[in-house]
Amino acid sequence: MEDVQSRHGAPVVVDAGSGNAYLGFILYELFLKDAEAGTLLSVEGRPELTQRAKERAGRLGFGRMEFQTAHLEEAQWPERIHVLMALHACDTATDDALAVAIQKGADYVAVVPCCQAEVAQQLKESKQAVDATLALLYQHAWHRREFGSHLTNVIRALTLEAFGYQVTVTELTGWEHSLKNELILGRRVHRENRQARAKLESLLGSFGVRPKLARVLGVEPRSPTSQPTPPEATRTTPA
Ligand SMILES: C[S@@+](CC[C@H](N)C(=O)[O-])C[C@H]1O[C@@H](n2cnc3c(N)ncnc32)[C@H](O)[C@@H]1O
Repeated sequence: MEDVQSRHGAPVVVDAGSGNAYLGFILYELFLKDAEAGTLLSVEGRPELTQRAKERAGRLGFGRMEFQTAHLEEAQWPERIHVLMALHACDTATDDALAVAIQKGADYVAVVPCCQAEVAQQLKESKQAVDATLALLYQHAWHRREFGSHLTNVIRALTLEAFGYQVTVTELTGWEHSLKNELILGRRVHRENRQARAKLESLLGSFGVRPKLARVLGVEPRSPTSQPTPPEATRTTPA
């Protein structure tokens, strides 16, 4: 926030899957309330939550907080986004949020994923096609769910890298507050990173999965038997 505020006169901050918009209220209070400009847009699928948050913003006089009731796939996004965040956006909603950040070239992205089920199902369906030793990692339903969730977040981090973000994965808060505690932070430093893209395609191919984020961005799995990426394809392109 300090970086975008120092570089951009009127930063646009987006909270995707905002619920009651508490995170937005905190950021607005800390960074935007006393600034001359800057907008915080909360996008949430449940109208009653949007309405309640809108009324609260009105009472607090937080005039540059905006609210939109929409499914993330159908929302109207600002042309320029400086910071995009998604805290516990359910299942593939985190993918929707990341896809928007990448497509809009957001300077910063911060997501804390929630529960994830999509990749566990894909692992179940692709079990026969992948390396038999690797498949031992998720033979049992419980492991498949945990491993599927882990693999999903690895893919999310690597996708950010492939699209030019420098990524940090860390914990959000004390474990006593939330078991969904993985914070994935990205800062856009390149336009793309072909080496990371090649690793991502190969990871998808090795496990026979293609989560929503990969589908939306058109990232295809690479067959584990295909040729390695030639050296000239491993360069990064500056943002
Ligand atoms: C677990 S809550 C988290 C809310 C808020 N970010 C927070 O941390 O307090 C997830 C929120 O995301 C919303 N949501 C889930 N999928 C969504 C989607 N595809 N489009 C819009 N909102 C979505 C839900 O309605 C819910 O309010």
